[in-house]
Amino acid sequence: MKRTLRRLPGWQSLSLAKALVTGGEPRQNAVARILRPDNLFQPQGTTAYDRYPEELGAAAAALATATPDILSFGCSSGEELLTLRRHFPGSRIRGLDINPVAVRAARRLVHDADEDAAITVARSGDAGGEPAESYDLVVALAVFRHASLNDAPESCVGVLDFASFERTVTGLTACLRPGGVFVIRHANFRFTDCAVAADFEPVMAGLPSSNEHVVTPLYDRANRRVAPESRDDGVYRKHG
Ligand SMILES: C[S@@+](CC[C@H](N)C(=O)[O-])C[C@H]1O[C@@H](n2cnc3c(N)ncnc32)[C@H](O)[C@@H]1O
Repeated sequence: MKRTLRRLPGWQSLSLAKALVTGGEPRQNAVARILRPDNLFQPQGTTAYDRYPEELGAAAAALATATPDILSFGCSSGEELLTLRRHFPGSRIRGLDINPVAVRAARRLVHDADEDAAITVARSGDAGGEPAESYDLVVALAVFRHASLNDAPESCVGVLDFASFERTVTGLTACLRPGGVFVIRHANFRFTDCAVAADFEPVMAGLPSSNEHVVTPLYDRANRRVAPESRDDGVYRKHG
């Protein structure tokens, strides 16, 4: 029934209008569909508090400081920023998201939590505006993926491409100080396929998809599907 309705003229506009009126995550997702900003990876803003306790624990153990400067790339509506604050009290935290609705929601959440002094949020689709070697911890969690690939087509061309992933990851890792930690989860590409991975050692890698219902498929440098067992998601430390 829903599939038939989707083919009706005007259905897309109606569903977008409904999402815009609903607000919250549906509005955020609709704005991503309407704006389609350059370098957009995962358009959906799904998030929650404390989604990655194991990864953040491993990052904390690998860091030389208890108060790392943190960059959260693809912070969505801000729950990740407050989670990071709980894991790393005393840290300075910067959140980036490409979606203006997400940025507004994150700023509101941070303000309501009285954390404006420690946490800043900006709209950006890459780390180009961040100074080199200025962070100890960079996280990119459930950003370098796309829900349209969940059915694991043989190629990801037309949805995501490795070149954009590598360029963006290279920019993010350039923001890390020597000895800094990069955490990447639920990506459709492998960090170790990027040339810059040679500057890193694994701390906790090869983590499985945490959602047993959605196994994130993997694609290689040529955008071809590869075995999900070769997943290298996890925690990496930059050589000192
Ligand atoms: C599924 S949410 C993940 C939120 C959070 N990191 C988490 O794991 O709970 C994906 C977020 O990535 C953002 N995003 C996608 N491409 C981006 C890009 N190029 N730069 C910054 N944010 C991006 C989306 O706007 C969305 O808010």
